[in-house]
Amino acid sequence: MGDLVLRLPEATNYPTGRMEIDALPCFKDLVRQNGVSVRAVVADLSTDAGVAQVADILKADASVDILVNNAGTSPLGSSTDLPQEVIDRMIAVNITALTHLSRAALPGFIARNRGTIINIGSVMAFNAFPITSAYSGSKAYVLLFSKGLQAELKDTNVRVQAVLPAGVATEIYDGSIMPLDSIPKEVVMSVDDLVDAALAGLDSGETTTLPSVDDAELWARYESARDALFASTQTGTPASRYRV
Ligand SMILES: NC(=O)c1ccc[n+]([C@@H]2O[C@H](COP(=O)([O-])OP(=O)(O)OC[C@H]3O[C@@H](n4cnc5c(N)ncnc54)[C@H](OP(=O)(O)O)[C@@H]3O)[C@@H](O)[C@H]2O)c1
Repeated sequence: MGDLVLRLPEATNYPTGRMEIDALPCFKDLVRQNGVSVRAVVADLSTDAGVAQVADILKADASVDILVNNAGTSPLGSSTDLPQEVIDRMIAVNITALTHLSRAALPGFIARNRGTIINIGSVMAFNAFPITSAYSGSKAYVLLFSKGLQAELKDTNVRVQAVLPAGVATEIYDGSIMPLDSIPKEVVMSVDDLVDAALAGLDSGETTTLPSVDDAELWARYESARDALFASTQTGTPASRYRV
C-alpha cells in the first residue's frame, strides 16, 4: 500500500520503510520517468532509534509536505494467543511511530501553513472481532488521533486524512492465521484501486476515506450518531435506568 506515495504529484522526497532502495524498482521508475529525486531511508519504526531517525528528517527538511503514515502490522489472533512482543511491536509501529512522525512533521507544516498527513487506518477502527482486539484498538487510535488533529488544524491549510481500507491484497496476510486466499475474493480490493480511491478521496477534500464503502451517507450517519451519543453523555448525572 506504500505505492500510494508514488502516485502523489509531490512524490519527490520521502522517507520509506526498511527496504533498501535496490529492492524498490518502483522508485527507479519514478526517477527515470519524472526526473525526480528520491531519498530512501532505512528505519525500523518499531524502535525508538528508527522513529527518531525519520522524525529528525521530518523536522529538518522543509521540502517535505506530505507524510503518509502507512507502515503497519496486523498480527491476528486472540489476545491470549498472540505473543506479547508481537502486540508490542504492532503498537510501536501502528500507534507510537505514527504519533511521533505526525508530531515531528506538524510544526513545520503549521509554520508553512501547508502540508498533508495521510494516516492509513482500517475499517477495524470501528469494529473488533475475536482475532483483531489489539489491531482494532490500534486502528481506532489512528482514526481518533486523526480526528483530533483535524480539529486542532481546522484554521490552517494543513490537512489530515484518515484512510480506512477493508481487505486489500497485500503481503500483510502472509503467514497470518487468515491468509489472503481464505478471504472471499469479492471483498478484497486491489492495491491499485485502493490507492486510486484514497487519492480521489484526498482530492475531494474528505477527512475520512472509506475506499470500499459505496454509500457515503453511512459514514455521515455514523458520525452524527457518535456526536449525538457524545452530547448525551454531558449530563453530570447517572442515567435514570441506574436508579441512583
Ligand atoms: N492489507 C489490508 O487488508 C489492510 C486493510 C486495512 C488497513 N491496512 C493497513 O495498511 C497499511 C499498509 O499495510 P499493507 O496492507 O500494505 O501491508 P504490507 O504489504 O505488509 O506493508 C506493510 C508496510 O509497513 C512497513 N512496516 C511494517 N513494520 C515496519 C517497521 N517496524 N518499520 C518500518 N516499516 C514497517 C513495511 O515495510 P517493510 O516492507 O520494509 O517491512 C511495509 O511497507 C498498514 O497500516 C495496515 O494496517 C491494510
